[in-house]
Amino acid sequence: MPQINKGKYVLVVGCGVGTTPCYLAKRYGCRVVGVDLSKRMIDSSNKRAKREGVKDRVEFRVADAQNIPFEDDLFDIVICESVNAFVEDKQRAASEYVRVIKLGGYVGLNECIWMKTPPPELVEYISRIMGAEFPTCNNGWKELLDGSGLRDSSENL
Ligand SMILES: C[S@@+](CC[C@H](N)C(=O)[O-])C[C@H]1O[C@@H](n2cnc3c(N)ncnc32)[C@H](O)[C@@H]1O
Repeated sequence: MPQINKGKYVLVVGCGVGTTPCYLAKRYGCRVVGVDLSKRMIDSSNKRAKREGVKDRVEFRVADAQNIPFEDDLFDIVICESVNAFVEDKQRAASEYVRVIKLGGYVGLNECIWMKTPPPELVEYISRIMGAEFPTCNNGWKELLDGSGLRDSSENL
């Protein structure tokens, strides 16, 4: 597992109101970039960074997970929390995470799953109302990452 420390460069995709980027910068002193599709989220994130005194280490940008506006092999760690369920082309987003991390870097996802098979009407409702799609077991997310050339390091936890 990655040791986050001062020397690391971290990308948080779908950062919402910037809680995780600001926490990481404060706790570990690392440099962090947060991206989110929503400008409102990015505005809130910028306010948070100012309020929490981490503006020198944290940068926020409006960007789509499917088209990350950064060069290849730039970040040590990519983190996504409750984001990929909302992304239309999940495989493309996963390829973007792999593209922007350095060789030997880490991608960490924290995503929801259905604990048991849901009724199809509920799946349809959530997709229509929230634009979200969740797999019925952890393997759904694992397959997505495996398909992008990543190796599972969770057995080392
Ligand atoms: C459930 S919120 C989670 C926010 C944050 N990660 C957290 O855990 O507090 C999902 C976030 O993903 C963002 N999002 C959805 N689709 C996205 C995409 N294609 N690219 C980047 N961000 C996206 C939304 O704007 C929203 O801020």
